[in-house]
Amino acid sequence: MDTLPIFLSVRGRQVLVDGGGPQAARRAERALSAGAEVTVFAPEPGDDLLRLAEGASLGLRIERRVPVEADLEGCLLVYAMSEDAARNALLAGWSQAHGALCTVADAPDLSDFASPSIVDRSPIVVAISTGGAAPVIARILRAKIETMLSPLYGRLAAFVGGYRERIARAIPDTRARRHFWERMIDGPAGDLFAAGDAEGAALRIEADLARSTVQQAPQQGEVYLVGAGPGDPDLLTFRALRLMQRADVVLYDRLIGDEILSLVRRDAQRIYVGKLPKEHTMEQGDISSLLVKLAKQGNRVLRLKGGDPFIFGRGGEEIELLAEHGVPFKVVPGITAAAGCGAYAGIPLTHRDHAQSCLFVTAHGRDGMLDLDWETVIRKGQTVAVYMGLGNLPALVEGFARHGVSLKTDIAVIEKGTTPDQRVLTGTLEDIVAKVEAEGFESPSMIIIGSVVRLRTRLAIGKRAVEEEPHGLSLSPTAEAG
Ligand SMILES: C[S@@+](CC[C@H](N)C(=O)[O-])C[C@H]1O[C@@H](n2cnc3c(N)ncnc32)[C@H](O)[C@@H]1O
Repeated sequence: MDTLPIFLSVRGRQVLVDGGGPQAARRAERALSAGAEVTVFAPEPGDDLLRLAEGASLGLRIERRVPVEADLEGCLLVYAMSEDAARNALLAGWSQAHGALCTVADAPDLSDFASPSIVDRSPIVVAISTGGAAPVIARILRAKIETMLSPLYGRLAAFVGGYRERIARAIPDTRARRHFWERMIDGPAGDLFAAGDAEGAALRIEADLARSTVQQAPQQGEVYLVGAGPGDPDLLTFRALRLMQRADVVLYDRLIGDEILSLVRRDAQRIYVGKLPKEHTMEQGDISSLLVKLAKQGNRVLRLKGGDPFIFGRGGEEIELLAEHGVPFKVVPGITAAAGCGAYAGIPLTHRDHAQSCLFVTAHGRDGMLDLDWETVIRKGQTVAVYMGLGNLPALVEGFARHGVSLKTDIAVIEKGTTPDQRVLTGTLEDIVAKVEAEGFESPSMIIIGSVVRLRTRLAIGKRAVEEEPHGLSLSPTAEAG
């Protein structure tokens, strides 16, 4: 972050705007709506400014002249919006001398702050900035947020804001208080308010408040076992996001990237329990026990896992222990690596003419040895998606050959699938080991075996297609290695 986002209180403070054009009028209007005392300097005020002067009540003064240094006395903010660059620069210098913060039109280097795009649902205000890099993106985002953020939220915030002090007094424990607020807003009281029944919502809050003051004993927490998908944060489900925002503590794996982790509630405690192949940071049993312990302390515990928690994710073992200890839990499926990697590499896992089934297997058997039911693996008309297979790739290829599968069979290896670092290598069983070694592929890598791999070339999905059509079938910037 290059700048510090803050919401500044300007009520009753002096704001100077220099310029008579529409930009100056917009800045003046915004400062006025936040309660500032605004003086606009404009020898020739434009239509927007004149209209503003007609509509605005107290707080706005228009001076039909250019400002002089003495006008900066007592100013908190200065908007240099005139069309005269030299005048704007002069104003920026005066502002510095008088300790006022200044912003200069089209001159970020001279500016102390930038005016963000905003969505106003007062008292809720969303501000968006691209640091001046791409104001159009800020406008597009604003339009999206405008449609997502119903005006109801502003009214709801004002309504529940009235209970703030009472709730703080009634529930002194910070975590219990936050849970109460969440239950209130995301639950029946919020629903009643949304349905236009403010009175019913108020009664509900009173009842909940009375109950929570009686039951001050710590409540039982719960565990959210959430699949975060293979890497691209865009592949998270809405439900995953909602629970990520609700957690008090998060236990996460090596496969969870920083981008996804940054979507977890900011002040949630983060515990890394990741594992590298053949290296365990925390034993599985210890992770499951920690989940139980944290939930019993009253926490909402987020167990964030790569891909889907129930596909080679040991999610089953974790919920077994939770159930044994009577800890409530929710499981949220995620996009598994085979599906994500296939889609982003442009390899359909099934296809009428190539494969009528797809088998998910792990090449990481007990003690790290291959432990496959070969009769099932080598079936015709089937794609085989191999998880945790990179280390055992030579043994895998040897196994296929030993069971009579042609060495000309197509195979793809996808490293860091769906992320900006995705690499895709295609070849045959005969040459894939040498290619993988030459390119230095690392974990996590997904192996896909079967003639569907060939469709990648036929559908012309590769580096060229991706570069020309970033929003096409293969969304990620694939670096071709094979
Ligand atoms: C312990 S398994 C977890 C699988 C996960 N539960 C799922 O549903 O995708 C880890 C293996 O998944 C595969 N994998 C996970 N994410 C991947 C990615 N982004 N790109 C390629 N392979 C990935 C790799 O084979 C890796 O060794």
